[in-house]
Amino acid sequence: VKLPVLRADELQGLARQFFLALGSPPEAADRVAASLVRSNIVGHDSHGVIRIVQYVKAVRSGRIDPRAEPEVEQEGQCTARVNGNWGWGQVAAWRAAQLAVAKARQAGIAGVALYRSNHVGRVGEYVEEIARHEMIGLAFANNHGGAVQVAPFGGRAARLSTNPIAFCAPTSGFPILVDITSSVAAEGKIRVLRNQGKQAPEGWLVDAEGNPTTDPGVLYTTPAGALLPLGGALGHKGYGLGVMVDVLAGALTGALCSHPEAKTVGNAMLILAIRIDAFAPKEHYYEEVDKLVSALKSCPSAKGFKEVLLPGEIERRVAEQRLAQGIEIDDETWREILQAAQELGIALPA
Ligand SMILES: NC(=O)c1ccc[n+]([C@@H]2O[C@H](COP(=O)([O-])OP(=O)(O)OC[C@H]3O[C@@H](n4cnc5c(N)ncnc54)[C@H](O)[C@@H]3O)[C@@H](O)[C@H]2O)c1
Repeated sequence: VKLPVLRADELQGLARQFFLALGSPPEAADRVAASLVRSNIVGHDSHGVIRIVQYVKAVRSGRIDPRAEPEVEQEGQCTARVNGNWGWGQVAAWRAAQLAVAKARQAGIAGVALYRSNHVGRVGEYVEEIARHEMIGLAFANNHGGAVQVAPFGGRAARLSTNPIAFCAPTSGFPILVDITSSVAAEGKIRVLRNQGKQAPEGWLVDAEGNPTTDPGVLYTTPAGALLPLGGALGHKGYGLGVMVDVLAGALTGALCSHPEAKTVGNAMLILAIRIDAFAPKEHYYEEVDKLVSALKSCPSAKGFKEVLLPGEIERRVAEQRLAQGIEIDDETWREILQAAQELGIALPA
């Protein structure tokens, strides 16, 4: 089967039309479209245009207010809380990241909490933005209490959301970017597998009875199965990270911690920005991180590997390739996008 392949700018133009049609101001429509397509560009299709249809439904059901503007509350010298007002998560999270940068520029270190926000997409995007300003960025997110999909270590029912952690640190070359869930994978990856009619790898999922399964459909049945915490037999580590992310993103931000009965679904996030020269001379920092990078890159590769990659390197490579060759959209996602476009009267690229 030949899948549709679109240039990134075409895809972004298309995505933008959806958000405009839903009543968003052009700036917000641009932001959301750019963020989604950026996820496709770097290879995280789970957080790309596959979300358009989900967002259309969320606007229709009133969960996303496409016109809402984020507000800054409770502002201190190096802290702030951003209220997303249940508008676009991408718009609110960019606001929070930029505020963290501005405050860290003054104070050396800053933390911004985000609550009442919808889905922010790829969490790495916001810490990458912080690293562009010669700062280290950290972010911790939960689902604002709802949409629990991950079983705690030793349990067989969902109690946590996938609770991602993202760190980004500048180097003299490309920034190091770690952008990972504390579960074995993002829920969106399971959704992509389901859309592609593929099985999940072993050790990722349990069904509603707690039996190991490779069927991605188990996350979408009632009662639902669960994703497992990161770490397999050593899942107590991913589980521990997930719990602490929930505390930082859920309780500390003024949002909610994960709970199977929680009704709110969105993203709550704590974002930290650390200015490098608030701690060490810049020359020292760059010399050391650059040495670290070359030590890692010069490591002989293990059996079955071609080379050692840095965290963030795979995304950069995929981006080069996709910017040159276009982005392939799976059949099911494309079918859903076409259908939604028709309903909203959106013209499609030839
Ligand atoms: N908004 C939300 O609620 C939400 C929730 C969960 C996940 N997410 C996003 O989903 C995305 C996917 O998360 P995931 O954990 O499934 O991603 P993943 O398992 O693909 O891990 C990605 C990370 O691992 C690194 N990596 C991958 N292969 C590597 C290799 N061979 N060597 C070294 N490093 C390597 C990448 O550079 C990146 O930092 C992330 O962008 C995350 O922010 C968002």
